[in-house]
Amino acid sequence: MADFEKVLKVGDLQPGEMVKVEVALNGVLLGNVDGKYFAVGNTCTHAELPILDDKGSLDGNEAECPYHGSVFDVTTGKPTQGPASFGLQLYSVRVEGDDILVGPA
Ligand code: FES
Repeated sequence: MADFEKVLKVGDLQPGEMVKVEVALNGVLLGNVDGKYFAVGNTCTHAELPILDDKGSLDGNEAECPYHGSVFDVTTGKPTQGPASFGLQLYSVRVEGDDILVGPA
């Protein structure tokens, strides 16, 4: 079973921000919603394209795919607006000291 990986320092992701990180060679979207961290797969379930290339802003707890406008709730991975109809992969997030770690859900 895969382990948790350190992906970022706590101070590097402010509330309302999201960033693309890599976990076990997979692109993961890490978001900060009101000081709490959530991680979901960065591959949009509509056309398998990346939601984020680098860093971006959340709209509340939602991230929008730039390609065709699907919107996902990063706290659940579920789409709140199509065309995507399937949820994003979920990951678990842990904070240890100053480090943010992401691992399997
Ligand atoms: S690839 Fe994301 S909405 Fe189409």
